[in-house]
Amino acid sequence: MMRVVSFAFVILCIYAGNSHSKPSCGYPMLEWCKSQEIAGECGVEKYCLHRNATRPNRAESSVEVGLYYESLCPGCRMFLVKQLFPTWIMLQDIMNVQLVPYGNAQESFDGKKYKFTCQHGEDECLGNMIEACVLNITGSVAFPIIFCMESAFDVEKSAQPCVEMHSSLWGPLMAV
Ligand SMILES: *[C@@H]1O[C@H](CO)[C@@H](O)[C@H](O)[C@H]1NC(C)=O
Ligand SMILES: *[C@@H]1O[C@H](CO)[C@@H](O)[C@H](O)[C@H]1NC(C)=O
Repeated sequence: MMRVVSFAFVILCIYAGNSHSKPSCGYPMLEWCKSQEIAGECGVEKYCLHRNATRPNRAESSVEVGLYYESLCPGCRMFLVKQLFPTWIMLQDIMNVQLVPYGNAQESFDGKKYKFTCQHGEDECLGNMIEACVLNITGSVAFPIIFCMESAFDVEKSAQPCVEMHSSLWGPLMAV
């Protein structure tokens, strides 16, 4: 009888020990289902199988946020830097952001070419254009680059260092 009890006790201890040590893996929760290895290491294979089955296409269930803004507009800069970017950093798993640096710009066609006028002057047209190119060629680091530019004192002067900090695409970008 004594033997049965201590055997049960040992099993209980192993079980309790296991369930305690399981979540202590080196990955943040957002990454747990990113691969089977991580899921295994974190002891959440069952959870990830279930989650993958019920949310097969993450992009489809993400919240779409579009921001139409002007590169030199103080209110836009404040919103992008202090609210949108930090929110995206925390929630990018369930959130897609589409940036459109073309707010309040006017275009006219004189028969030969387009002329653009921006609310905050020529400099803003240049800033919008650089950011549109950043969005076109830098892929997943576009938002960090634009955040870097918009949070700098001088949006245009910071373009090159901001692009170079996140990618090696400054040359190709200038060639666009
Ligand atoms: C969940 O799905 C993603 C995307 O299809 C896949 O890369 C990942 O390996 C899956 N996770 C697990 C634990 O199977
Ligand atoms: C970048 O611009 C080119 C030329 O307009 C376009 O064909 C391409 O689809 C754009 N790529 C992205 C990722 O927006």
